[in-house]
Amino acid sequence: MGVFTADTGHEQVVFCQDKQSGLKAVIAIYSTALGPGLGGTRFYPYATEEEALHDVLELSRGMAYKNALAGLDLGGGKAIIWGDPVRDKSEALLRAYGRFVESLNGRYYTACDVGTYVQDMDVIAKETRFVTGRSVENGGAGDSSILTAWGVFQGMRAAAEHRWGTPSLAGRTVGVAGLGKVGKYLVRHLIEDGASVVATDPYEPALEWVRATYPQVEVVADTLALITAPLDVYAPCALGGALNDDTVPVLTAKVVVGAANNQLAHPGIEKLLSDNGVLYAPDYLVNSGGVIQVADEIQGFNFERAKARATRIYDTTKQILALADTESISPAAAADHLAERRMADCGRLRTILLP
Ligand SMILES: NC(=O)c1ccc[n+]([C@@H]2O[C@H](COP(=O)([O-])OP(=O)(O)OC[C@H]3O[C@@H](n4cnc5c(N)ncnc54)[C@H](O)[C@@H]3O)[C@@H](O)[C@H]2O)c1
Repeated sequence: MGVFTADTGHEQVVFCQDKQSGLKAVIAIYSTALGPGLGGTRFYPYATEEEALHDVLELSRGMAYKNALAGLDLGGGKAIIWGDPVRDKSEALLRAYGRFVESLNGRYYTACDVGTYVQDMDVIAKETRFVTGRSVENGGAGDSSILTAWGVFQGMRAAAEHRWGTPSLAGRTVGVAGLGKVGKYLVRHLIEDGASVVATDPYEPALEWVRATYPQVEVVADTLALITAPLDVYAPCALGGALNDDTVPVLTAKVVVGAANNQLAHPGIEKLLSDNGVLYAPDYLVNSGGVIQVADEIQGFNFERAKARATRIYDTTKQILALADTESISPAAAADHLAERRMADCGRLRTILLP
């Protein structure tokens, strides 16, 4: 994909190279209409440069929508470091990357993503002020999955209320696919609310954790066994593409709310979901608790303030589901409309000159 030829709509795309440390990175800023672009750095061994560029362009666009809908005064950006995080990551490489982030002078704030961790952000922070997701010891927001899970739970309560008239999940059966960083916290919220939980994960230690911590959780062999079991709610908390032409027709759940990014395999899936009577809460809306958590670090991290903001995902989800009904559009389209409206309406205010 070419930035100009494909007219992706991005404001700025920066290629960064430091031969000594082996750094090859791309920082993409989709929009700064609402503020500096915030989004994580993905460290990944892409097969080709085209694949890496495609990913960073898509991801940065997604962050603009996510941040806008989360009510943050932040635009959308994202970065990729092209390489194998296990083999290629070094202090010098991360610090070289930090210097490129600094060179953008606050147009882009970075954070953790696939292949980068809180400790890496601490290293990057030696070279730039424009970094979030640092460790708590260093004044950072720490593990963002805490508020990601909290936000998903709030989105699920809103969807339950929309569907069944009450936000409580007590007595509902929720299927959780993926007991990773987010899935584990989500299971806790669900159990505390009185839900029955069915779960699956191919990673044995994750299953051992759930058996030891919540013996009442029913563990099933795989995702197919999970989604065909009698469920009220399905929570995809593993990889993208969970809702596709194979899974949606066999889904027993009538509500889908989960943490995974890019759950819809292709745009046609939205119609399939609604034809099958499944209520889907858009992924980037309900999983924005993590970015809300790290964004708070810019002001000096305050967990309670960030949690209060993540709790509002409940209200936004209700608003979006209602808008989808009134306008006879999918919740995904309603979420996009609201995000675009905020970017346009509030972004426009910057045309009022402040002398
Ligand atoms: N961590 C965050 O703050 C955050 C924020 C927004 C979105 N997300 C998204 O939420 C999802 C989960 O994130 P995480 O941080 O918990 O990741 P993670 O890597 O800690 O956990 C993912 C879990 O899914 C399991 N898994 C892999 N394939 C599976 C399958 N087919 N069926 C069931 N389980 C499977 C893995 O074994 C792992 O335990 C990802 O899509 C991520 O992009 C995470």
